[in-house]
Amino acid sequence: MAVTETTGGGACAPSVPALPDPATEAVLSCGLVEELAYALGGPFHFLLPGAFDANLRAMRAAVADAGVDGFVYFAKKSNKAAVWVERCVAGAAGVDVASVGELREALGHGVRGEDVVVTGPAKGRELLDLALRHGALIAVDATDELDALLSAAAAPSGGGRPARVLLRCLPPAQPHSRFGMTDAELATALDRCVQAGDAVRMEGFSFHLSGYEVAPRADLAARLVERCLKARALGLRADRISVGGGLPVSYTDAESWRGFLGAQHGGQYHAGKRFGGDDFYPYHSPVAGADALRALLAAGPEGQGRPLAALLREHGVALLVEPGRALLDRAGGSVFRVQGVKERSGQRLLTVDGSSLSLSEQWFNSEYLPDPWLLPLDRDGASGVFPAGVGAATCLESDMLSWRRIPFRRRPRVGDLLVYPNTAGYQMDSNESPFHELPLPPKVVVDRVERTDAPGGRPRWRFDRHFLRA
Ligand SMILES: Cc1ncc(COP(=O)(O)O)c(C=O)c1O
Repeated sequence: MAVTETTGGGACAPSVPALPDPATEAVLSCGLVEELAYALGGPFHFLLPGAFDANLRAMRAAVADAGVDGFVYFAKKSNKAAVWVERCVAGAAGVDVASVGELREALGHGVRGEDVVVTGPAKGRELLDLALRHGALIAVDATDELDALLSAAAAPSGGGRPARVLLRCLPPAQPHSRFGMTDAELATALDRCVQAGDAVRMEGFSFHLSGYEVAPRADLAARLVERCLKARALGLRADRISVGGGLPVSYTDAESWRGFLGAQHGGQYHAGKRFGGDDFYPYHSPVAGADALRALLAAGPEGQGRPLAALLREHGVALLVEPGRALLDRAGGSVFRVQGVKERSGQRLLTVDGSSLSLSEQWFNSEYLPDPWLLPLDRDGASGVFPAGVGAATCLESDMLSWRRIPFRRRPRVGDLLVYPNTAGYQMDSNESPFHELPLPPKVVVDRVERTDAPGGRPRWRFDRHFLRA
């Protein structure tokens, strides 16, 4: 029988509820999570490729509706699973890679080399060689990298193809960024591209901006269009620009986010830990994902007098985007089991069977804020408000999955499951490590979620192919 109880456990931080998501709710309500937790015997991640497909379709539609020529590359660094690459192949998207390993994974799971863009600074010779041989687009980050690329292209191992190149610009508004080239460096790079003749196909320019605002992206995109026109005057192709990633994701509603930022303070966190509002990812964005891409295309860059889309169309410039987080919005969650419950000095601390290395935000002096759901072992347990922080099964004081005391609606008990929502974008595996010889959480792909309510329509699950190979 349920008992309503409001216990101590310390002051709790305000709730940050995840936005409703029918697919995740279907997975939670059909018993699959409990079954997998039993079968796998440790933390795991579940992946929802249907959400990725929907996000990709929406982004492609945003570009098509604006009448712009464009291409979406999935930023592979945001999640290592193979299923996303498979969905890129199925959905006519490319992949943005920044290492030999990522390039190998993309090619190995079926992406054509010409649908790959290689980003990242100071690319090694092995990566340049592989990219050249497969006809990938290479975002050149520095003049010495361009030199290395030209010498790789001239070598027999270069495959005899022209190097397909974007020149990455240092954003004027972020002059301390370690990525991209200054105006002087760009001038040198352009000169070398002209000198290189048929050995190089200079296809345009790129940038990636920190932050999530639309206006600075539209302004810089317009400047890159101007750069394309000047490069064409030098005889270069320059018919595309990449605006990188940074499409925001909205994890929670506006009111909850405002409420959280206004009310959170150190007394609500384990060990008095403190975060300023700016330490957090902006967990609510009024315009997010594909809508942010629409907003970018509709935005009027400074001094242009027309939307970015019109500028791109007028000059025959294609728009490339490299979203990671936004393609993975609602595309999975992370499951841990409560292994211990400690109550001390009126405060409650849970210890789960994994580590914050599987919830990467914690490693950026920040906190992953969307509330985890508690799936109780015993559904008849007490209900009320039970504040608790969440620690890891490691010997590090600082290894906390949630420093803040979350207002759980049931009394957490050993054996309960905690499900962190919407973790596919960067949270799951960017920082994972088998610290303490703890196994890396496996990734389970859940298909057919939409048929949960149909007769015999249980979701299907399988291991991700990247996990199976590891
Ligand atoms: C060059 C480049 N492209 C794309 C991305 C993906 O960004 P996001 O996941 O915010 O869309 C990044 C992220 O660091 C990046 O550096």
